[in-house]
Amino acid sequence: MSGTADGSVTITRDGTNQSIRLPLLAGTIGPEVADIRKLYSDFGIFTFDPGYGGTAACESKITYIDGDEGVLLYRGYPIEQLAEQSTFLEVAHLLLNGELPNKAEAEDFHQGVMLHTMLHEQLRSFYNGFRRDAHPMAVMCGVVGALSAFYHDSLDINNPEHRRISAFRLIAKVPTIAAWTYKYAIGQPFVYPRNDLNYAENFLYMMNAVPAEPYQVSPVLARAMDLILILHADHEQNASTSTVRLAGSTGANPFACIAAGIASLWGPAHGGANEAVLKMLGEIGTPEKAREFMARVKDKQSHTRLMGFGHRVYKNYDPRAKIMQQTCHAVLAELGIKDDPLFDLAMEMEQIALKDDYFISRKLYPNVDFYSGIILKAMGFPTSMFTVLFAVARTVGWISQWKEMVEDPTNRIGRPRQLYTGAPMRDYVPVGQRG
Ligand code: CMC
Repeated sequence: MSGTADGSVTITRDGTNQSIRLPLLAGTIGPEVADIRKLYSDFGIFTFDPGYGGTAACESKITYIDGDEGVLLYRGYPIEQLAEQSTFLEVAHLLLNGELPNKAEAEDFHQGVMLHTMLHEQLRSFYNGFRRDAHPMAVMCGVVGALSAFYHDSLDINNPEHRRISAFRLIAKVPTIAAWTYKYAIGQPFVYPRNDLNYAENFLYMMNAVPAEPYQVSPVLARAMDLILILHADHEQNASTSTVRLAGSTGANPFACIAAGIASLWGPAHGGANEAVLKMLGEIGTPEKAREFMARVKDKQSHTRLMGFGHRVYKNYDPRAKIMQQTCHAVLAELGIKDDPLFDLAMEMEQIALKDDYFISRKLYPNVDFYSGIILKAMGFPTSMFTVLFAVARTVGWISQWKEMVEDPTNRIGRPRQLYTGAPMRDYVPVGQRG
């Protein structure tokens, strides 16, 4: 493929004069994109890109990542500025509607979301169908998917008002579902939401309060929670977001699409990594064993990865990991934890990795999950809830991306093709004649 001056690239089949000109599309920032939509119909070939490393699957105005520079923008705003100055619901408004809200809009949005925090009472009985030791992500997949069986009045995806209410319902109800998942696992009564609290406070309240005594949400922990939610709110076309878009492209309802996103997030290569990091640090145990573990990571036969390191897009420090590391210091200090062995071990692992040629040559840096688990553990969350928290935050990104796709007039069903390497056409052989 060769670049041409008039904003196109031309592909020529070797040894022939057959060629096709592909227009180049330019975004606001980021690399140009070759438009291959007519490549098959006009030239008879597919493109091959397993893992989609070089494929722009959609046009989007929501989130931008420059992986080489370690830049993450939500609607153009750097994540560092949002993390420092904004709140999660303000960020949710930004992602969903494109702009930061003014004061009146922020109040409306807050009320609009918080109005929907309760669950249909019958959803309570869903929990009883699960084993108490079920993984919370399994419960999340089931209960969030079940929302579509309860909120029939907002399922018309072609109705903007239905889309708006469904988005509010998802953003509002997912923390309640998540907190109840935890309460069910530990055998405590479900705690109903409190709409006088802010989003993060309400979530911590539902997680930690019990009916027997008053519970005061720590403002420092609520701020840390809010920050964690902001950092995880959206991340361009990652696996779970692409899953939501693919499911949504068929016309499936938003609750079903978000349940699909939750399933995709669960894997250890994606959102499940925060849980995996903690397990890994627990297994390593002490900084003295760090180098031994690193040797295992570099031995390809061991199939061991340094969890919380590496990223498909970031070939530099993940900007979210930097903020997480700083927050980790603040949260541990607030909680009066002077020496946290896991944090010390994580810092030691990071230092070893950043100086090691294996990691340097492959551009492997800490990602958002490397430090988030340590903060969440210090805040009292059990490891199995880490990915659930990721899902709570990412619901905003998923629903924003889903909405953008449904409102895009060029949207059509996502239907990738393949490079078929199976048997060519052959005739059926009756069982008695098979060798
Ligand atoms: N530890 C050791 N080696 C690694 C790691 C790691 N964490 N990540 C990548 N590599 C190696 C990999 O073995 C390969 O080496 P070689 O070129 O010799 O074959 C090279 O680096 C490129 O890796 P890749 O698997 O082709 O990269 P990818 O873009 O397909 O995978 C990733 C990205 C995030 C799945 C991967 O880096 C990984 O498995 N990391 C650990 C899991 C993790 O922390 N995931 C969270 C990602 S960020 C949050 C989120 O998305 O939810």
